[in-house]
Amino acid sequence: MKSEHKPGSKALVQALVTANEPIRPRFWKLLLKLDPEGSRLFSKALPGQFAQFDLSHLSLPPAEAIEETLRDRAERTILLRRPFSFSDIFTSYSEQGTYVCLEVIYCVLGPATVRMTSLKPGDCISLIGPLGNGFWYPETMKNALLVTGGMGAPPILHLASFLRKSYPHTAVTAFAGARSIDYMPFELKIGNITGATVEEFERLNIPVHLATDDGSVGRKGFVTELLKEWIEKQKPNPEQTVIYACGPEPMLAACAEIAFRTRILCQVSMERMMACGIGLCQSCAVRIRTDKPESPIYQLCCKDGPVFDSRTVIFGEGQ
Ligand SMILES: Cc1cc2nc3c(=O)[nH]c(=O)nc-3n(C[C@H](O)[C@H](O)[C@H](O)COP(=O)(O)OP(=O)(O)OC[C@H]3O[C@@H](n4cnc5c(N)ncnc54)[C@H](O)[C@@H]3O)c2cc1C
Ligand code: FES
Repeated sequence: MKSEHKPGSKALVQALVTANEPIRPRFWKLLLKLDPEGSRLFSKALPGQFAQFDLSHLSLPPAEAIEETLRDRAERTILLRRPFSFSDIFTSYSEQGTYVCLEVIYCVLGPATVRMTSLKPGDCISLIGPLGNGFWYPETMKNALLVTGGMGAPPILHLASFLRKSYPHTAVTAFAGARSIDYMPFELKIGNITGATVEEFERLNIPVHLATDDGSVGRKGFVTELLKEWIEKQKPNPEQTVIYACGPEPMLAACAEIAFRTRILCQVSMERMMACGIGLCQSCAVRIRTDKPESPIYQLCCKDGPVFDSRTVIFGEGQ
């Protein structure tokens, strides 16, 4: 059953940059303050929803500020808006009024995100949102297991703070994985390697279990192994437990498999290349099961997702 939190309508809104800082070598945190219309719409946005950012007018930072491997790619023209989810949405109060602020954690990968690093407080960008469907909250839920891989972190961080505020009696446990410590998009606090912790979850008093493929932080191996072991040990009631996952598609498929075996509901936030973000261009198809296994259908990640019930998704196309 879906919760009472329903996404509202969307619009083209203006956002003022209030901060834009690196948090780790290739990850930046951007803070945006929305105009009154944007504030009205985004105050109802749910974790997992996203917006399409227009970054085409931004200039490149100086060549020496761009990682060498990205310099050629960074030169490409930006024709399309780019989709970003949020690591938090909160309300800011001042003498000038009440505004909704968006926190975005982004990975510097190509022409748009390289240009994003040049944004300064006082700059303005245009965005369309809030878009898509976010995570939902069954009434019976008592345990939320949050699983994030690499750049899947932002909507999961948003979900963590949302659950703390709106569902304070839900026990929340987080599992965070990445290729190596350099691909963990968090404010990691590293006492010693095994004692590393994620400050964002710690502030919310949420226990977090870390794993990296190379063992550079947390357990060496896949984050889904930690999830599986936790479920085997804690034996949560499947009727009262939900797995929420965002990350690379093989990780989402592994979460779906664990959920299937343990009869736990699992919601996965999928990623596809998106052109329009509003259901027009059909570029973001996700294959969905039907009652007839030989006749799957396609749904749109931007409009029907990006969050899907893992039982419905046929994984493998976005890998
Ligand atoms: C719903 C949604 C939410 C997102 N939220 C975030 C976020 O919070 N933070 C963040 O850093 N990124 C997020 N992304 C990904 C982000 O949109 C891309 O990283 C961004 O568009 C890259 O733009 P670019 O011009 O810098 O690089 P590009 O040159 O466009 O891409 C660089 C590389 O990344 C790959 N890539 C780009 N977009 C995607 C995609 N959607 N799926 C798979 N591979 C892709 C490209 O194939 C290429 O290899 C999200 C994507 C979606 C669909
Ligand atoms: S991005 Fe155009 S239909 Fe989904």
